[in-house]
Amino acid sequence: MKILSTASQLGHELANDEHVAFVPTMGALHEGHAVLIRQAAAWSGSHPHSGACIVSVFVNPTQFNDPKDFERYPKTLDQDVILSQTAGATHIYAPSVEDVYPASELTRPLSLPGVAMQPSLEDAHRPGHFEGVYRVVRRLFELVRPKTAFFGEKDWQQLQLIIAMVKHERMSIDIVPVPTVREPSGLALSSRNRFLSSKDMPKALAISQALRDSTQASNIDQAEQIMMTCLAQHGITPEYATIREAASLLIPQRDFQGPLRALIAAKVGNVRLIDNTPWGSKS
Ligand code: PAJ
Repeated sequence: MKILSTASQLGHELANDEHVAFVPTMGALHEGHAVLIRQAAAWSGSHPHSGACIVSVFVNPTQFNDPKDFERYPKTLDQDVILSQTAGATHIYAPSVEDVYPASELTRPLSLPGVAMQPSLEDAHRPGHFEGVYRVVRRLFELVRPKTAFFGEKDWQQLQLIIAMVKHERMSIDIVPVPTVREPSGLALSSRNRFLSSKDMPKALAISQALRDSTQASNIDQAEQIMMTCLAQHGITPEYATIREAASLLIPQRDFQGPLRALIAAKVGNVRLIDNTPWGSKS
């Protein structure tokens, strides 16, 4: 596996690779990331003469609405290299801020799709976050030029943003969604879980519990009520706990027949957690 740190190394290295599978990350890699990398490696490995599986490790400053969160974001490149190699990556791209953001990139116009502005979920609670995600993923896609890119369903609204962005920018990249990887307890794996104290753990578990419980409800109002009750029993007041249309993330219309999603965001101690699950169409 090769470690690359500049866009020019990347361009040189990939000049002949036609089947590039890409996993963008911010590092502090865990088993959730490993599942994405294994899938990407399996895809690129099926093109033995022209395949590459690239993992980017870049803590993107433009997507942190809270500077403290950016400063304390874990940086574990040595372990990330081992995990990526074991999972089958052929290259790690770990660039500097200057490499990803020459001055022209920071002022380049972007047009955020509705799913990143209207739902009043992450968009409302993390102002500026999706502008940063759009900016960095568009840039990384242009540098890496993948045929396919893998994203976790854990960040459901981000996944919908990327799908919309690729369409809007007319990029011919297949976006592959990967289901959320969880601890046996149900807790969704996250780089931020390491900041949870043992005292916070039962509260953190209440989030996946509330999502599971919500799937037993027979209508949307009841599902939202069940989530609120489960969270309240653990002393959690969520930022949101809601059922939405899965692609637009808008409040379901009365006659809506498509897939739905239950989503929760909540602070546990000083760690902000998000999780989501498909929600049945029993309503
Ligand atoms: P990061 O949080 O490092 O996540 C990288 C990818 O791993 C994302 O697609 C995320 O959804 C996925 N992921 C994280 N935890 C997961 C889990 N438990 N199960 C399945 N997939 C999981 O998301 C980002 O970085 C950044 O916003 C990025 C897209 C790299 C842009 O900076």
